[in-house]
Amino acid sequence: MHGDQGQTSWAYYFNKTFMNKFTVLLLSLMVVPAAVRAQQASTVLVDVDHRQTTSLNGEWHYILDPYLAGLSNFQGAINQHGFFEDREPEAGTNTTAKDGLLEYSFARSPTLKVPGDWNTQREALLNYEGLLWYQRNFEFMPKPGSRVFFHVGAANYKASLFVDGKHICDHEGGFTPFDCEVTSVLHDGKNFAVLAVDDTRLADGIPTLKTDWYNYGGLTRDISLVTVPTTFIDDYDLHLSRTDHKTIEGYVHVIDAQSGSKIQVSIPELSANSDVLVDANGRAAISFVPAGLETWAPGHPKLYKVEVSTGPDKLIDEIGFRTIEVSGSKILLNGKPVFLHGINMHAEAPYRSGRVNTDADVKTLFDWAQELGCNFVRLAHYPHDERMTREADRRGILVWSEVPVYWGIHFADAAVLAKAEQQLGENIRRDRNKASVILWSIANETPSTPARTEFLTKLAAFAHQADTTRLVTAALLVHNGEGAQADTKIVDDPLGKELDVIGTNEYAGWYEMSPEKISNVTWDIRYDKPVIMSEFGGGAKAGLHGPETQRWTEEFQAAIYRNQIAMLNKIPQLRGTTPWILMDFRSPVRVLPGVQDGFNRKGLISNEGKKKLAFFTLQKAYKENALGKAE
Ligand code: GCU
Repeated sequence: MHGDQGQTSWAYYFNKTFMNKFTVLLLSLMVVPAAVRAQQASTVLVDVDHRQTTSLNGEWHYILDPYLAGLSNFQGAINQHGFFEDREPEAGTNTTAKDGLLEYSFARSPTLKVPGDWNTQREALLNYEGLLWYQRNFEFMPKPGSRVFFHVGAANYKASLFVDGKHICDHEGGFTPFDCEVTSVLHDGKNFAVLAVDDTRLADGIPTLKTDWYNYGGLTRDISLVTVPTTFIDDYDLHLSRTDHKTIEGYVHVIDAQSGSKIQVSIPELSANSDVLVDANGRAAISFVPAGLETWAPGHPKLYKVEVSTGPDKLIDEIGFRTIEVSGSKILLNGKPVFLHGINMHAEAPYRSGRVNTDADVKTLFDWAQELGCNFVRLAHYPHDERMTREADRRGILVWSEVPVYWGIHFADAAVLAKAEQQLGENIRRDRNKASVILWSIANETPSTPARTEFLTKLAAFAHQADTTRLVTAALLVHNGEGAQADTKIVDDPLGKELDVIGTNEYAGWYEMSPEKISNVTWDIRYDKPVIMSEFGGGAKAGLHGPETQRWTEEFQAAIYRNQIAMLNKIPQLRGTTPWILMDFRSPVRVLPGVQDGFNRKGLISNEGKKKLAFFTLQKAYKENALGKAE
C-alpha cells in the first residue's frame, strides 16, 4: 500500500499555480481541509481481469483546466466549489442550490471515451498538456460484507480520485494500475465520480521532461469497480522451481485473514491441490509437485487454470509454468539455451494512433510480430496494457517489460528513486504470474554517472528482491574506441555488474556511418553475460523508394538491416535482438515535413500498416534462423 500522497499532490498543484512563493508558503503552512485531503492510499489489486468487476468505461464528461481553476479560487485558497463537487443546476433552473452562481457544469460539458488518451479524440486536444477533469455518475451499492475498490488501469501522469466531493486517493505514474477503496463513500442511487488527471511532464518525474514518444494524457486504460470480500487475496506468486523444474513454489498473501486460516491452491486439470495455513501476517508459503505438469514455452504456451481460494475469496488465474535463468553468457528457458528473436513495440495503436487499449490493437501488434518470426518482444519504454502480457502468455511470446527510467532522470533525488521503485513494484505486482515476462528492465539509455549508477544499483536490487524468479536488465549506451579503435563498440557501463542480462542500443548505419560501413564494426563487451541488442535500425518513409544510398528510402533502411544482421552474427554472446521498432509511432521530436510529420519513422511497418522492405529482410533472417545463436 502506498503512503498517503494527498498533501504531496495538493502541494504540487499549488506550486504550479499562478500564486507567488509567499502565497505558496502561506498555504503550505495551512492544514489541508479534511474535505480535500486524500482519505486512502492506493494499492494494486492482483488478477483484476479475473475478478468480479463493474466497468466504468464509456463516456465521461470533461473540463479542461490549464490554469488549475478547479483546485483553488483566485486568492489561492482551496475552492470550496472545486470542480469535484456535484453542482449540477436544479431541474428547470440555471442555478444551483448553494449560491446561484454557476460557472461550470460537468453535465453540460462534452465527453471523452474512457479508456482513451485525450490527444487523439479531439483535434483541439492533440497538443493539450495539463490538468483535465473527468466526471461521470454511477449507481453502485456494495454488498454487505464486501469491500469495493475503484480500479484505474492507468492514468497518465498524475491522478486524483474524488467521489461525491470526497478526495479518495492520488497516484503518480502513467503506465501502472492503482486501486483505491471506496466502500465507505458509496451510497444508493447516483454516485458522482471525478478523476483529475494531469499529464504535465515533470523534471522529477519518471519519465522526465524529454522523451522520444508522445505524452498521451488521460485515462488511457480500463476503469472499473472491483468487489472483494472483507478477507481477500492481496498478492500471490506461483512459479516453477529453477532447482527441479517440477515443484510449484511461491506464496499467497491475504488481507485481514485469521492466523491459521486455510488457503487452497489447486490446478483442476492436473488434479493437484495444496492446502496451507496463513501465518500471523496473512502469508503462506506454497510448495507442491503436480504430476504431469507441462512447461510453458514459445511454441507450447501451456496455461493452466489455477484456483487460489481462502473460502470467502477465490481467484481463477491462467498461469504458465516455466523457468528463466542465465548460465554464463547463455539464457536458459526451462533449462535449455534460447535465442530471442524480438522486436520493440511502443504502446501505439495501429492505424488510429493513440494508446493501445483494446483487444483488436493487441491482436494486430502480435499478429505482425509473429508474422515477422518473433518469439520475443520488448515492450518499450514503460509497462503496457495488461492485455499485452495476457496475449503474450496465450501466444507463447517472451516479454522484456520496462519502467520509464528513460534518459536524463533526476538520479540524485531520493524522491525520484522512490517513484521508480513504486512504478516497478506496481508493474511486478500486476504481471508477476505471467510466464511471458522474463525480464524486468530498469532503464533505457541513461548517462553513466556515479549518481545514475548508484540509483540504478538500488533499483536493480529492488527488482531482484521483489522477484527472485526473473532476470533484471537495462538498455545501456555503448561508446566507440579511440583512433584505430573508432569502429569498436565498447560495452563497459558499470551498471552491467548489477544486471543478469546486458541490453545495449546502437544505431550503426543510421546515427553513425553509412550502411555498408557497418561491416567494419567490432565489439568489445567487458561482461561474460548474455547480451541483447535492445535497439538498432533506422528510418524510412513507407512508399519512398530509391537507391540504397538515399536516406529515408525503404531501400536504405533495408540495407541497414542487411548489414546489421551480418555484424551482429559476429558477437559470440549475443542472445537476443529487438530492432527499433515494429511500427512508426507519434513523437513530438520527429518533425521533418513530408517525411516524419510528427512520427518516428524507424518502424518496419508504417502507422497505416504498410510493411517496408526491411520487414522482409529481418523476417527472412528470423525464419531461416540466420540471426544469432542460443549458445
Ligand atoms: C533511442 C531511444 C528510443 C528512440 C530511438 C530513436 O535509442 O531508446 O526511445 O525512439 O533511439 O532515436 O529513434
